[in-house]
Amino acid sequence: MDKSQWNARIELVEEALIKELREESALDEQLCSSMKYSLTAGGKRLRPILLMAAADVAGGRGEDFIQVACAIEMIHTYSLIHDDLPAMDNDDYRRGKLTNHKVYGEAMAILAGDALLTQAFEVMLRQPGVPADVLLKVVREMAIAAGPNGMVGGQAIDLESEGKHIPMETLKKLHMGKTGALFRAAIRSGAILAGADEKQLADLTAYADAFGLAFQITDDILDVVGNEAVIGKPVGSDERNDKSTYVTLTSLETARELAAQVVADGVKALEGFGDKAVFLKELLESLLARNK
Ligand code: IPE
Ligand code: IPE
Ligand code: MG
Ligand code: MG
Ligand code: MG
Repeated sequence: MDKSQWNARIELVEEALIKELREESALDEQLCSSMKYSLTAGGKRLRPILLMAAADVAGGRGEDFIQVACAIEMIHTYSLIHDDLPAMDNDDYRRGKLTNHKVYGEAMAILAGDALLTQAFEVMLRQPGVPADVLLKVVREMAIAAGPNGMVGGQAIDLESEGKHIPMETLKKLHMGKTGALFRAAIRSGAILAGADEKQLADLTAYADAFGLAFQITDDILDVVGNEAVIGKPVGSDERNDKSTYVTLTSLETARELAAQVVADGVKALEGFGDKAVFLKELLESLLARNK
């Protein structure tokens, strides 16, 4: 995918997200406004982009799955709203703006998260052009990824690991849950929607797991060395909350080495796709140099 295609896809996602948030999409005006606030605050939109890119390499056309792509961004945005709440990471900034609860209050932020999660399933079910059994498989992927065996499970381990020295295996499980699961669901869903065969799906799953892990290791690194103005969220949040991260459990240097190793593993998983997977390869490699 070249830069112009990338921009076109981001545009497509932004437009489709706004369409889902018409006033009549919530009974309450404040609720609608609160959902819209976080959803349009300007995230990187990596999960929808990855979903579409995975569909491309599996022989489909990413654009054809825009509803599902939007839905995963809604689930992701809900996870961020709740992650920032005082009872969780208690952060004041997200995507360069005040966090949802700072603007709308904690109760409305909780409801905005609930609403985005549930609406996401309705949005993905409105994906046209996909046989019902295939769409059902994707809905299952998303439900598992968002739930107790995925993102929410990882968040629970994260909270329970505050102020503790946990084994590396637990940290990996935590990362694969809270962050890896949604990346895995994005990439696998794109592949399934495009009709990937078993080998393609297995290779893309290995790639996705590497992507998720490398992404959270670099998130841990940015929480220490990032620039708040660039990342749009507070630096030092993990230290303040006494979190277990790759940096606190090892060191900045080791965390960087581990991220490079995981990226190399992910690149290997793409070998069978040849040139078709250049975009996925470069996106994964770019994580090592990311500053936001
Ligand atoms: C932040 O995800 C939460 C993590 C899983 C580390 P992103 O860095 O993708 O956040 P946005 O969507 O760009 O704001
Ligand atoms: C990812 O972990 C949390 C989610 C699943 C939303 P973090 O707590 O490190 O994410 P950031 O750094 O606040 O974005
Ligand atoms: Mg957190
Ligand atoms: Mg956080
Ligand atoms: Mg973080």
